[in-house]
Amino acid sequence: MKRALITGISGQDGSYLAELLLSKGYEVHGLIRRASTFNTGRIDHLFQDPHVPDARLHLHYGDLCNSEQLTNIVYNVRPDEIYNLGAQSHVKVSFDMPEYTGDVTGLGTTRLLEAIRRSGIATRFYQASSSELYGDAPAPQNELTGFRPRSPYGAAKLYSYWMTANYREGYGIWACNGILFNHESPRRGPTFVTRKITMGVANILAGRQHKLYLGNLDARRDWGYAPDYVEAMWRMLQQDRPDDYVIGTGEVRTVKEFVEAAFGHVGLDWREHVAIDPRYYRPTEVEYLLADASKAKRALGWAPTVTFRELVKIMVDHDVQAVRGESRV
Ligand code: NAP
Ligand code: GDD
Repeated sequence: MKRALITGISGQDGSYLAELLLSKGYEVHGLIRRASTFNTGRIDHLFQDPHVPDARLHLHYGDLCNSEQLTNIVYNVRPDEIYNLGAQSHVKVSFDMPEYTGDVTGLGTTRLLEAIRRSGIATRFYQASSSELYGDAPAPQNELTGFRPRSPYGAAKLYSYWMTANYREGYGIWACNGILFNHESPRRGPTFVTRKITMGVANILAGRQHKLYLGNLDARRDWGYAPDYVEAMWRMLQQDRPDDYVIGTGEVRTVKEFVEAAFGHVGLDWREHVAIDPRYYRPTEVEYLLADASKAKRALGWAPTVTFRELVKIMVDHDVQAVRGESRV
């Protein structure tokens, strides 16, 4: 039985990845942060009583800011595969907390890579790199495009990208960067723009909210469906040699187009409900992200399965049902 460690298992991607690996027969270990309330809502349906002898999901308290515990877990669990998905992942928040973002999203990766190096175990490492690395580099972006990050988050991810590449080259660690473009789902955090919009639509439809306040509607993103993207992560670690891959749909839309599609799906006119609040503007914006994922298609046989329209429908339908108390993710 293969054993995997996932940092960020309680997040959107971590929860889908845990599901995928459990379905493939893996024993899955996840790093979670101690909180005063339960923070495992996205993986509660996967929970198994650890007293049961064949339990395959195990959670460990820890933090990417704490190398002692990372080293303990890596050394004791000795995973075959490590997926580093933990991060302060919100770009706007990274402007408010640049130092903290650098600590978690940047140095956290180094702490984990050092834990691997010092433990001497043979493991495969996946680093959750991001299209935010590209910043204002011209679209479409692929593995050969130069990086020009435009936020503390992007700069922290850039550091992690290069540390991953350097540990691969310098120490022979089997390590990959997945440069993933935006991916969404009904488990997306509520302060990212797609989920903010779909929850807003559901609440407005139910008469619980009147206005939805947003920032820059002109930014263009390549939005895919998160379960497709965790499949790509897994495929990267099954290759003969470690490499870096861009993952995205190759389809670009503005935030405004997402708004129109989401409100239109339930028969509402977005112009009656959406207002601009400059507080959601960023000091520096990434205007145009569009993936050229031809290398992943060629080498991994990976392709997205959900179109933009289907993604909007999945998310709006989920949130409308959730407001009516009819759904779970
Ligand atoms: P997410 O939903 O925000 O999840 C982030 C995870 O990191 C959560 O489990 C969170 O734990 C954990 N975390 C935060 N700070 C931590 C710390 N100090 N120590 C340990 N864990 C910590 O993010 P996501 O959308 O699933 O994204 C997964 C990864 O891919 C992130 O690294 C993100 O930056 C990157 N990425 C995402 C996208 C995207 O479009 N979704 C695209 C490219 C790259 P709590 O639940 O306790 O907060
Ligand atoms: N969050 C948010 N809230 N964004 C808004 C809003 C708003 O009210 N109004 C407009 N936007 C615009 C942002 O300015 C940005 O251009 C775009 O919507 C997308 O914002 P987010 O959904 O917050 O995502 P992101 O693109 O900044 O970052 C996400 O994708 C990256 C990959 O490119 C995150 O998941 C990152 O962790 C990930 O690396």
